[in-house]
Amino acid sequence: MAKNKLRRFAEMKEMPHVFEPSMDDIKSGGVDFKGKWHKNVFKNNNPIVLELGCGKGEYSVGLARQTPGKNFVGVDIKGARMWVGACQAQEENLENVVFLRTKVDFIDRLFAPNEVDEIWLTFSDPQPNKPNKRLTAATFIERYRSILKKGGIVHLKTDSDILFEFTEQEIKERGYPCNYLTWDVYKDLAQFPEEFQETLNIKTHYEALFSSKGSVIKYAQFQIN
Ligand SMILES: C[S@@+](CC[C@H](N)C(=O)[O-])C[C@H]1O[C@@H](n2cnc3c(N)ncnc32)[C@H](O)[C@@H]1O
Repeated sequence: MAKNKLRRFAEMKEMPHVFEPSMDDIKSGGVDFKGKWHKNVFKNNNPIVLELGCGKGEYSVGLARQTPGKNFVGVDIKGARMWVGACQAQEENLENVVFLRTKVDFIDRLFAPNEVDEIWLTFSDPQPNKPNKRLTAATFIERYRSILKKGGIVHLKTDSDILFEFTEQEIKERGYPCNYLTWDVYKDLAQFPEEFQETLNIKTHYEALFSSKGSVIKYAQFQIN
């Protein structure tokens, strides 16, 4: 493994706001923060918001800056990317954002029912040939449903036509109540509450990459409970 990656992994092991549960612990149910994120991790009762597939964590950190009254958890399997957000949070002394290195596939083993208020999916892999692996596929939505509060919100921001079309169809076919859906979020920005426009304007690494190639950014907000 590259030296740089090893250094990042070693640094993350020392960060109290980075959690890296082992597969053994996840599988045996031996994860000690499930159901205790409020009490033991954030030490408050503020709403908990997840960013799934957070990469470098721009949304987790950006949201934490904008909304001190909520707690944020950036989730990704790639530790070297997550290190960027974890360092940023540390530099800015943000106490309302932590990172969890794991596969989204295990999310329902790491949070208890009703523990989560919102989920952000930011530039998720479109998985062109594996629809069941898309983070808005029914199997994943089932996992989210088991941890999200009633009325909890799922946000999807993406450049991908494939993923967005798929999600729009899932919303319609499965009858998820949909609060917003736009194929061009920046063109339609004025239709959103002013405070939320600032949130939608947070740009991730992949958004910058795809936008520079001319991709149009899409956004949907829906409920699954
Ligand atoms: C295209 S990148 C987007 C990263 C970031 N959200 C951004 O916008 O810059 C997709 C991210 O999702 C992560 N990812 C994809 N499937 C995942 C899964 N099942 N569990 C955990 N992470 C996953 C990848 O590791 C990658 O960092």
